Amino acid sequence: MRKLAAGNWKMNGLTPALDELEALSKSHANAGVGVLVCPPATLIAPAKARISDAIALGGQDCHAEASGAHTGDISAQMLKDAGADYVILGHSERREDHGETDEDVRVKAKTALAAGLTVIICVGETLEERDAANTLDIIGGQLAGSIPDNVTGHTLVVAYEPIWAIGTGKIPSLNEIGEVHDFIRSRLERRFGAGVGRSTPLLYGGSVKPGNAAEIFGVSNVDGALVGGASLSAADFGPIIDALAES
Ligand code: PGA
Repeated sequence: MRKLAAGNWKMNGLTPALDELEALSKSHANAGVGVLVCPPATLIAPAKARISDAIALGGQDCHAEASGAHTGDISAQMLKDAGADYVILGHSERREDHGETDEDVRVKAKTALAAGLTVIICVGETLEERDAANTLDIIGGQLAGSIPDNVTGHTLVVAYEPIWAIGTGKIPSLNEIGEVHDFIRSRLERRFGAGVGRSTPLLYGGSVKPGNAAEIFGVSNVDGALVGGASLSAADFGPIIDALAES
């Protein structure tokens, strides 16, 4: 099982922020687990020039089509060309801000796979859905709709991000995280077979910090994290990577 610590900078980061990435690259070139940073697209190419190959780079979204008349959009091939090996797709902020549906995410994922990127498909419930005991139904529907058929255990990562835990400092109980991750694993095994199902890294995301990372990584079927705010500084992201390596 590949363990992966992934940082999602969202719409944060100007050129000076590359100093943080360079610091992380120096301190964690031999982390013993996969380390991925998804900066804004404008920083992928300059980041690539400044960091060790041990730190992978990713985009935060891509267009569903390979190229064409889509002013302002970024294609999967452009991300790859700039130095990315991964792309986050279906983050709840994309689903909310841009009305992306499961089908949109699935089509984008197919395009990204064709461009040679590994896709990180995000799923997660709202607080209302959790309170109504609908979490597993929602996650099951998102998995079925958002993941294309032609993934392999090397080209798919799934991130479980409860929407109410993102940027709020709140996280589900460890039992709740384990329940969802076990469910995602079983759904992947059922649909893709044991090989892909067992080798797909499952990341937890939502308010992962240095102080809670170790306990989260102790939960069954948690193979890493998708980290927002705490990935912006090497001083916070570094200890999260270390906690994963020790788990
Ligand atoms: P957060 O964001 O770590 O700031 O809660 C996580 C995410 O949205 O990927």
